[in-house]
Order: sequence, then C-alpha cells, then structure tokens
Amino acid sequence: MKICLVTPARSGSRTGNRVTALRWTRLLRQLGHRVTLTDEYRAGPWDLLIALHARRSHAAVERFARERPGAPIIVGMAGTDLYEDLPDSVEAQRSLALATRIVVLQADGVRALPEALQPRARVIFQSARAPAPDGTATQPDRATFDVLVLAHLREVKDPLLAARAARALPAASRLRVLLAGGAHTDADLAAARVEAAENPRLTLLGELARQDALTQLARAELLVVTSRLEGGANAVSEALAAGVPVLSTRIGGSVGMLGDDYPGLFPVGDAAALAALLARCETDPHFLAELAARCELLRPLVDPARERRAWRRLLLELTPPADNARYRLIVAPGTAAPTDGAPPPELLADVAAGLAARPRRLPCRWLYDDEGSLLFEEICELAEYHIPRAEHAILGRHAPELASRLGPTLRVVELGAGNAHKTRVILRALAARGTRVEYVPVDLSRRALEETAAALLADDPALTITAVAADYEAALDQLDSDSTAATLLLFLGSNIGNLDRAGASAFLTRIAARLRPGDHLLLGADLRASAALLVPAYDDARGVTARFNRNLLVRLNAELGADFDPAAFDHRATYDELAGRIDMWLVARRALTCRVPRLGLTVEFTAGEALHTESSWKHSLTELDALAASAGLAVVERWTDDRSRFCDILLAR
Ligand code: AVI
Repeated sequence: MKICLVTPARSGSRTGNRVTALRWTRLLRQLGHRVTLTDEYRAGPWDLLIALHARRSHAAVERFARERPGAPIIVGMAGTDLYEDLPDSVEAQRSLALATRIVVLQADGVRALPEALQPRARVIFQSARAPAPDGTATQPDRATFDVLVLAHLREVKDPLLAARAARALPAASRLRVLLAGGAHTDADLAAARVEAAENPRLTLLGELARQDALTQLARAELLVVTSRLEGGANAVSEALAAGVPVLSTRIGGSVGMLGDDYPGLFPVGDAAALAALLARCETDPHFLAELAARCELLRPLVDPARERRAWRRLLLELTPPADNARYRLIVAPGTAAPTDGAPPPELLADVAAGLAARPRRLPCRWLYDDEGSLLFEEICELAEYHIPRAEHAILGRHAPELASRLGPTLRVVELGAGNAHKTRVILRALAARGTRVEYVPVDLSRRALEETAAALLADDPALTITAVAADYEAALDQLDSDSTAATLLLFLGSNIGNLDRAGASAFLTRIAARLRPGDHLLLGADLRASAALLVPAYDDARGVTARFNRNLLVRLNAELGADFDPAAFDHRATYDELAGRIDMWLVARRALTCRVPRLGLTVEFTAGEALHTESSWKHSLTELDALAASAGLAVVERWTDDRSRFCDILLAR
C-alpha cells in the first residue's frame, strides 16, 4: 500500500508522538508498504491515511476523506487526544467519526472510547528494543539507588513529583532521582532548577539523545512515571524491554499496560504514596523483585515482531478477502466457534480426561488459540527453530521442478495452512508456469485463513481461493468434492510430526484413499537429529516456546475459569533419541492445587510433576519411506535441505 502517515510532531522533535510515528514507519516499511511520513498532509496517490493524534491531525483526516472517498483512515490515539480532548473537542470527535479503524496503545484505551466507536478500535502495544548492554547496568553494591524519570518538563508530566517524594526519604536513603527531559517553557525550566538547587536527591540530566536516555534507563533501578495523563508511555515499553521495573501513576495509559493489580501504581500527584513506594523498593528486595517479575511477564507485549504482526493484521483487515470475487469461505459443520461464549465441548472432554491421566496430559491442538498462534509465528522466526527456514530453502530451490511435474490446472489443498509463508513459494512457481490454480487453505482459525487469503490475493491477480475452516478430518471430506482439476495436497511444516507413528500412518492412509490418479501429496517432515540440535529448537534462549507452552494454562484460566498460575510451571523439552520424539512438558515448581470450576475439578500437582503438552516426532528417511508405503503411497521425489535437517517428499498413489 502507499501510506501517508501524518503526525503533528515535527521532524527533529523527541516527543513520544514522533518516536511512535518513526517506529510505525519503520515497521510498515518492513511489511513492504511505501510510507511517507509528514507533519503536513499533502494530496497524493495514497491508499491509506494513518493520522496520529485525533485532534491535531484532524485537518489531514478531513482532507483525505474528501479527496479519497472510501479509502481507509486509521487514527492513532496518542494520549491527550484520548484522555483529554475527546469529551469536548469536536475536531477529535470528527476524526474518529471518519476513521475506519482507531489504534490505541494499551488495553485501557479501548474503554476510554465512546462505546459506539469501540468495535473499530485495535490495541497495538508500542514496542521497544532492549538496549545493548554497556557493562554499566545495575550493580547491587552501588553507592546510590538511582530512579529515572523520563519526561519532558510539562505540567501534564508532573516531572518534579518524584523529586518531591524523595525529599521525604530518611537520611540513610541512597536514592537519587535522575530527571531526563527538555523544558517547553522558561518557567518549567526555572522550576526544575529551583527544585534541584534545594533538593540534593535530584539531578537534572536535561534533554538526552534517545540512545543516551536508553543507556540511563538500563542503568537505573527503577523507571518512575509521574504523568497525570498518558496514552501509553513509550518509556514504559522501553523499561519493559530493558528489564527495568516501573512505578507509575494510576492512569489509563499505564494501567492498560501494567495491569490494574500491578503493585507499583500510585495516585496521580500523590508524593507521599510515591515516597512510600520508593522507600519500599530501596529497602525491600522482595518487593523490587516482585515488580521486576511482573514487568518480565509483560516483556513479550513490547516485542517489535509482535507490533509488526499487529500492524500486518490490521492492514489485512482493511482489505478483507470477503470483498473479493476470487475468494470464498466454507465453514465445515461443527467447526464454527460456539457463539454463546461457552468453551468447545471437545476442550472440556480433553481437559477432564487429560488431567485425570498419569502422566497428566493435554492435547497439543489446544495450544493454538489466538495468542498461541501468534506465539507459534514468533517461534517460526527463532534462530533455534530450524523447520520453517529449512523447508523454505527446499521449496525455494525445488518449487519450479515440482511445478513442472503438475498439470496446467491444479487445486492446491493445504492442511493447516497458517500464514502460508512457504506455500507462496509454490504458488509463485506455479504462476510462473502459467498453471491455473485454485488454492484451498484449510485451517481451524478463520482469522488465519482470512489474513492469508488477503495477502495471497493481493500477490497474484489470477489466483482463486476457497478457504475451508475445518479440522483435518473434516477437510479430507472436501477432497471428495466435485473438482475436476488434479489436486496437490500440502501437509507441510512437519505437522505430521504432531501425530504418533501409528496416527501418522492412519492419517496418510485416509489421505491416500482420497487421492485420484494424477493427484499428489507433498509432505514436509522434520528429520531425526541429535538432542543437542533438537532440544534448543523447543526450548529457545528467549523463552518464546516456554510462553507458547504456558499460554495453554492461560487459555484454560480464560476459557474454563481455572486458576493455574502459569509462572509456577517450568517449561521443559526432552528428546527421546531412540523413539525420535521431542516432548514438551509443564513442570510444577512446587506442590500446587489448581481448580477448574467449569469441570468441578480440583487437581493436585506434586512438586516436580510434569504435565505433557506436545509430542513432535522426528523421522529418518527410511522411516518416511516406510510411512508412505504403509499408507499405500509411492515416493515420486524426495528433497532435503543442505544440512539434512528436513525433508519434503512428493507422494502419489
Ligand atoms: C506445529 N508443529 C509442527 C510444531 C512442531 O515443531 O512440532 C509445533 C511446535 N511446538 C513447539 N515448537 C513448535
């Protein structure tokens, strides 16, 4: 898309709005869009306007709506526009009325909007990168206990509150308040200087270059946010990314990021309450550790990959495939999510049976709720998780050869399509040969199907897509439909590995029974390797797989009202080299009692007890041949990557 991004914050400004606008520009460019960032809207061939600050960008919104009627407008609510202007500013209200979507920077932002506008709102947390370590990060034996206030010297930021609070600390306190931020008026600067002259605990750092501010942050024991109002402070994201705990006024912008029950919140303008918190942080290491642990749990929210995905999802929403004549969606009977909010009966049955079993187990299919699917996408970008890259390399090299083996008209059915990243390579090779393709992605998630379809339809003007929302079994019935075109069935990404050997053979047998002469199955399988290579793929250094695994408990809490404490379980991945199987577990750190009210269940875990959540079977090339033969399938071709980690195998009856 050609995107015009308007921000009221001029080039060179160091305000949060400018930082946000620059980051959005970068992320959108990474997504392949052409972005023009400006503080003054000019007419252009824009497909989309993104306007930051509802009131101050109002003129741009009005003009764009006039000049390009029907084109989408996204209004980003930056702070004052949301919490201050909205009730009274006709201009802010007008911008929102014209907005196709409204982006807020934290969860409370949605609640702050009038109810009628809330369905148009999307939360996109601001991301931040952890600063590179410079060797001077917090050392426990330091002579001072430094807390940082990163705020421009403006009334709304209440920048001297922390200094005033620090005055109340006992003489023995080592606490220093470092205040980094420029003044907007001489009066603000004078007030800060007077406070610094009278208050030995305050040091004014002035306006710092961004990198220097981040370095100060990384060295601080705490970030203190004293704002009276905030749309969602960049500084909080930066602190979360840097692993620095936060104290903040109880304002929407911070509550929506840190949570209503975050123990480091204090009332706006309340120096005494802040002083009590500061004293506690300095003298009670358990409290400081608790804040740090809470912030650590929030760190994934500010991952740049997550913010980029949220933007990708939002932009795909603006071009829904449903509006496209080349797209249709089939929802298999029994696949639609219950509309009454009740949990799926299969989930209830699986949880009841799995928690009663020994070892306790939960089927891996429940790992993939919306959050789980996002985390799995993140896994696919990890250096340790070789599968997507290995398969992409194989398909990149051999897709033209694959395409040359197939006829001029083809139905490409993909089981468990997800984001169809690798499929795109195949579809492009087919398009290059002039093959007429109907693509039939099958996935349980309608959302994933629509996102994928929107992207692929934009990619290839000749492609038609029939998306099928179904599980694998229901999807196999789709193969029996009356299509006359030959079928290429894709089962990629080592999805076969999540079935045990007997299950894999039975599943392939059911597929084989449906293949007609001229049809093919392309199966992607992860190959056996040493534990040293495989275990890190399922237990990565950044802990993304651990979050993916623990998210299962978060899901049970949300959907079944259970009270699992995800932080009380360790993620573990083991490899049984003989069997060729990775297992994922959640291991209770101590004896735990967990309740699942929806099932009337109370479950006792002993310390160290492991709950099984996934198996991922690996294959040797011989095992793959045997698997194919057991299903009555013949090997047409077999391709492996350079390092023999992965195999794509083309099969036919
Ligand atoms: C989806 N499936 C093939 C992945 C695998 O490798 O078994 C699921 C996964 N679980 C943890 N990491 C990846």
